[in-house]
Amino acid sequence: MGTIILPALADVHVHFRDPGGTHKEDFATGTRAALAGGIVVVLDMPNTSPPTVHEAALQEKARIAEEKAHCDFGLFLGAGPDNASEASALGSRAAGLKMYLGHTYGPLLMNDLPAMIAHFQRWRGPGPIAIHAEGPMLAAAIALARAYDQPTHLCHVSRAEEIALIRRSKASGAPITCEVTPHHLFLTEADASRLGPFGFMRPTLGTERDRAALWENLDVIDCFATDHAPHTRQEKLGENPPPGVPGLETILPLLLTAVSEGRLSMQDVVQRLHHAPAHIYHLPMPAAEAEIDPDAEWEITDEALHTRCGWSPFAGMKVRGRVRRVWLRGTLAYEDGQVLVPAGFGRNLFAG
Ligand code: NCD
Ligand code: ZN
Ligand code: ZN
Ligand code: ZN
Repeated sequence: MGTIILPALADVHVHFRDPGGTHKEDFATGTRAALAGGIVVVLDMPNTSPPTVHEAALQEKARIAEEKAHCDFGLFLGAGPDNASEASALGSRAAGLKMYLGHTYGPLLMNDLPAMIAHFQRWRGPGPIAIHAEGPMLAAAIALARAYDQPTHLCHVSRAEEIALIRRSKASGAPITCEVTPHHLFLTEADASRLGPFGFMRPTLGTERDRAALWENLDVIDCFATDHAPHTRQEKLGENPPPGVPGLETILPLLLTAVSEGRLSMQDVVQRLHHAPAHIYHLPMPAAEAEIDPDAEWEITDEALHTRCGWSPFAGMKVRGRVRRVWLRGTLAYEDGQVLVPAGFGRNLFAG
């Protein structure tokens, strides 16, 4: 096979740690990792320091990102205990509203029903409410989506029972969509034991049965998203390792490998990294193309990565399929390991 051209690909779930955690990643290194992974649009999560919950923080993050980004981006607002009206008024300047219904990295945990209801009542989009919810809290999120008829996107679904609940809820009309990460599609708890802190993230890696259930319910999965969540090696090797693993540079090679094995079609990939993200998040997608060599066989290594954290839970894996070039708005932005566009080339898709 020759080369394959894919349209503008979007990752709707990344953590660039900017501001406040730029020793892990910033908008420059994160967007370079995106381009190296064939991705031209990233949606950045609000669990930064300060968290993106007020207008000033959103404005400051937009300023930083406009200065540093090499590819296009959108920014999430975070749902806090007392910002429902403010967040709703800022809706058009954000990719969506992120709500954390479970403990993970950062301070944005919501466990107060009145505050949750206030957000579900007031949010007017245009983007959805994106939710971190695991286990029983996933059922709570779906109940809120139904009760307030609020488009709700369920992040990083990882368990067999969760995908089964989502299937039933969608079939009975719940206004929900969902995403699954490459690590939950390609790794299990056996890898978590092998990788130690470098295989620790929220939700944690599941059983082989969980992993198989995600593949069997591919038709229920709207998007693939990385949940790119870099932390330094030193942090990972410390007393209390933070959850999260990087993923921007490995998502496409992993999915292309599954395509080469006949477990996915190229159309499945384009649907979940281009069409569905554009529709769910109302993304004004830039004109872009990624040129892929589907037959290139190579091994993922830490050394070749652009992410500042410098490691991958997939290091050592042999994959088939490689990103050769990426064009963004008519400009050659990436070629064979090199990012060719400057910081500031990336645009805020929700500049308002
Ligand atoms: C994320 C992070 O590090 O910001 N960590 C993770 O394990 N996924 C937070 C999150 O997405 O839950
Ligand atoms: Zn999460
Ligand atoms: Zn996340
Ligand atoms: Zn479409």
